[in-house]
Amino acid sequence: MGKVHVINHPLVQHKLTLMRREDTGAKDFRELLGEIAMLMCYEVTRDLPMEEIEITTPICKCKSRVISGKKLGVIPILRAGLGMVDGFMKLVPTCKVGHIGLYRNPVTHKPVEYYCKLPPDAGERELIVVDPMLATGGSSSDAITMLKSRGCKYIKLVCLVGAPEGIEYVQKTHPDVDIYIAAIDEKLNENKYIVPGLGDAGDRIFGTK
Ligand code: PRP
Ligand code: URA
Repeated sequence: MGKVHVINHPLVQHKLTLMRREDTGAKDFRELLGEIAMLMCYEVTRDLPMEEIEITTPICKCKSRVISGKKLGVIPILRAGLGMVDGFMKLVPTCKVGHIGLYRNPVTHKPVEYYCKLPPDAGERELIVVDPMLATGGSSSDAITMLKSRGCKYIKLVCLVGAPEGIEYVQKTHPDVDIYIAAIDEKLNENKYIVPGLGDAGDRIFGTK
């Protein structure tokens, strides 16, 4: 069973509270999401392997540590996942970006696939799927299935807010994938929106409502 890492850092929790408020506008919402993404990137990369290399400082030669092992890829689920990409790219500028397009059918609430473009070497990279919202879990789970069907093996999921049923669904469908999340909310409502949640993340980022 994949682990669920709840990122309880005060900065993350404070910024998330600001994002939840209905009177927070699109500009602030986007900035806060970018900042939280950066903080979550810090946590999700905590277990990256390291190696010692020899370098020369202005004073002398010495051994110093650098990240080793697999290269990274960040995979936003369109549209709302796009709001988290810059935060990751700021801290890991060499990571490649793949895009997965999914939208929830408004009646069935099931995800519908419309796009997938991955780096050619995605299968050798450690991939971090990003999407602010984990509601029923259908979109995240399908995105991970799409990656696996294209040969990807090393996958983590980073979300901002999740419902218990969505987390359970991803754990059941992809027991090998760890989930990093800032808050586990109470439940889903009759429209499968997270309660209390923060509303429709894509609409709030892009001002489409
Ligand atoms: C939202 C959100 C997730 C999905 C979560 O996307 O960004 O991708 O819903 O719901 P689920 O866990 O029940 O699948 P949406 O389908 O609204 O598309 P958008 O980002 O383009 O607005
Ligand atoms: N998608 C969102 O953007 N918000 C929710 O609460 C559920 C799905």
